Amino acid sequence: MSDEEMIEKNEKKYIKIEIPLESSLNQSDFEIIQDLEDQYHHAGFSLKLNNSNLEVHLKSLDLDKFKLTLNYLINTAKRKIPHQEIHEDFFNKIIEKIEDIRSYGIKGGKRIYVDYNKERKVINRKEKIAKRSSYYYAQDHSFSSVQNQMPSEYINKIICGDSEDILKKLPSNSVDLVFTSPPYNFGLGYESTEDGIHWNDYFDKLFAVFGECIRVVKFGGRIIVNVQPLFSDYIPIHHIISNFFMENKLIWKGEVLWEKNNYNCKYTAWGSWKSPSSPYLKYTWEFLEIFCKGELTKPGSPEKIDINADEFKKWVVAKWSIAPERNMKEFGHPAMFPEELVERVLKLFSYQDDMILDPFNGVGTTTVVAKKLNRKYLGIDISEEYCKKAERRLKMML
Ligand SMILES: C[S@@+](CC[C@H](N)C(=O)[O-])C[C@H]1O[C@@H](n2cnc3c(N)ncnc32)[C@H](O)[C@@H]1O
Repeated sequence: MSDEEMIEKNEKKYIKIEIPLESSLNQSDFEIIQDLEDQYHHAGFSLKLNNSNLEVHLKSLDLDKFKLTLNYLINTAKRKIPHQEIHEDFFNKIIEKIEDIRSYGIKGGKRIYVDYNKERKVINRKEKIAKRSSYYYAQDHSFSSVQNQMPSEYINKIICGDSEDILKKLPSNSVDLVFTSPPYNFGLGYESTEDGIHWNDYFDKLFAVFGECIRVVKFGGRIIVNVQPLFSDYIPIHHIISNFFMENKLIWKGEVLWEKNNYNCKYTAWGSWKSPSSPYLKYTWEFLEIFCKGELTKPGSPEKIDINADEFKKWVVAKWSIAPERNMKEFGHPAMFPEELVERVLKLFSYQDDMILDPFNGVGTTTVVAKKLNRKYLGIDISEEYCKKAERRLKMML
């Protein structure tokens, strides 16, 4: 918090925000402030005008409703005295300042800004967390915190080959973030690999590659895997992959549900139609499983952050509604993810100039977005054809 403080009124806590009054404010502006004061003097939110400031006392508020009210008052004032300019910047500042404050969820349609612990009703929260031992499965890791440079021959490159072999050539602790979508073993027609082998063989190969990813990722770096289980085989691949990383001492940071709104699922029958004998569940989403090596916090300089406030607020809500990639035919690849998915991952979990790796790079969606967002990249794919397409996409950006 920068310019707000905690105050107590009638034994209730409020956040106090002070917005300096500008000398240019006119009669219409003050009428709007007065109208707001009249409308908002309830238990959760009030305004107070003094000689030099507008004070906002904030405990809980329906911010969307507040914006609508403010908008209405501004428009009414404009109609009333058309020649007088309304200082909308001043009023926008109120909203910006409120939006900058961390809120603790919604109750009765209003955002809650104070008394977080009271709301949660958990006493001695910190002690209880310590007793439970957060990410106990990864506490005894033996990762070195010494970071290494990626050799220049692997920076901003697309390499054709088996990822397991290529990754073995890279130094440990040299990649900031791995983002990838492995083959799902669905039986898709990839250019040079069979997709649809026995699950044991599939996991052996996948974990050989992921084991290398764990080695090459930096201390504090992240591995993010986009997967969709083959529900019809009853294999929860997202859980199996998560177990693998946790057994190998990575911290499970969380999971994003990528809602594709893909209601076009090609199931001709829903298992046992209209009978509980074996109904078949349908999924319109995929998963992104997120892991951290060594620690949850990733160091980086503030000037290398490129996510803005709106994006941050929207994307930390871990259900992302993004349409699937529509141009797979054009690229000649059966299982691409959309650029927007990569953009969100990179901006939320990495800094500019970070080294990004995709060991199943396909036609290069990760590497194209990494380049666009001023990250360094390395993309590996076993198919020469896909690698050529990935190169072409990168060249077209010049
Ligand atoms: C789901 S696709 C990734 C698509 C990519 N996200 C995109 O948007 O283009 C998986 C890719 O893994 C590649 N692949 C399969 N086995 C591999 C291996 N052992 N090493 C490297 N790439 C492999 C396939 O050729 C395929 O392009």
